[in-house]
Amino acid sequence: MGSEGGQGTGREPDEAAGGGAERPAFDTSVAHIARVYDYWLGGKDNFAADRAAAEQAIAAYPDIVFSVRANRAFLARAVRYMVGEAGIRQFLDIGTGIPATSNTHEVAQSVAPESRVAYVDNDPVVLAHARALLTSGPHGVTSYLDADLRDTGRVLSAAAETLDFSQPIAIMLMAILQHVDNADNPYAIVAALLDAVPAGSYLALSHPASDIEAQAQGELARRLNQTMAEKVTLRDRAQVARFFDGLDLVEPGLVRVPEWRPASEAEASSPAGLWGGVGRKS
Ligand SMILES: C[S@@+](CC[C@H](N)C(=O)[O-])C[C@H]1O[C@@H](n2cnc3c(N)ncnc32)[C@H](O)[C@@H]1O
Repeated sequence: MGSEGGQGTGREPDEAAGGGAERPAFDTSVAHIARVYDYWLGGKDNFAADRAAAEQAIAAYPDIVFSVRANRAFLARAVRYMVGEAGIRQFLDIGTGIPATSNTHEVAQSVAPESRVAYVDNDPVVLAHARALLTSGPHGVTSYLDADLRDTGRVLSAAAETLDFSQPIAIMLMAILQHVDNADNPYAIVAALLDAVPAGSYLALSHPASDIEAQAQGELARRLNQTMAEKVTLRDRAQVARFFDGLDLVEPGLVRVPEWRPASEAEASSPAGLWGGVGRKS
């Protein structure tokens, strides 16, 4: 995808993602989190408005570029744990993002090729990349749904076309719930998703923190909220822990994302302003 674009640039939707003849137009003059995040990760799927917002955020909190990499690494470690140690074979990954390193299906299917992954995002640029998310190995399945996390009924009914809800499922909410403000009751959304899956299922979640590098991250959020389409609500550790209510937290619990089962001490000590954890429904 080109990195320069004018207002109203459109993309053909991916046929395999259920797209029809419609061309989803998107306004490149407004920054969106999927593209801002892509810029922080060093990707090329972003436009001038995204880069400007991303740079303003970097100026407020320079460690954001380490933070997002640590988040992707946490995602990969959490998936590897859930497939390799917990025996999970089904994933509902909501807030997929633009494909980057170690996408959920790649990590899961590298351990268990039969793994099934249902991806969900509401950004048209992610939809335009859906083909890259649907490159499952011959033994597994991936699907992509263009939907809003807040519409849990639609998310769950569409996911049921790919996933078997009588068997354990890992629900993944990586760096997305900060875009659900309190008025939309994020705790009820997570509870509705967890209600739909059987015992033995997992929740893997990361969330930008209001109590790590509080001043710098607060300023980052303030700047993003002035320009970006999706607003940001930072939450503290106790508020993030509430998403795991009723679940058994896997060791080491809710920690800064690089401290969750790191591969090395160097990895554990990376700067990162997100809380992350994995919980099991019993
Ligand atoms: C910061 S990115 C995180 C991407 C990926 N989960 C990761 O951790 O690397 C957040 C993603 O959530 C998506 N998103 C934000 N709000 C959403 C909503 N209400 N419904 C569905 N997707 C949403 C954005 O489009 C974006 O792709």
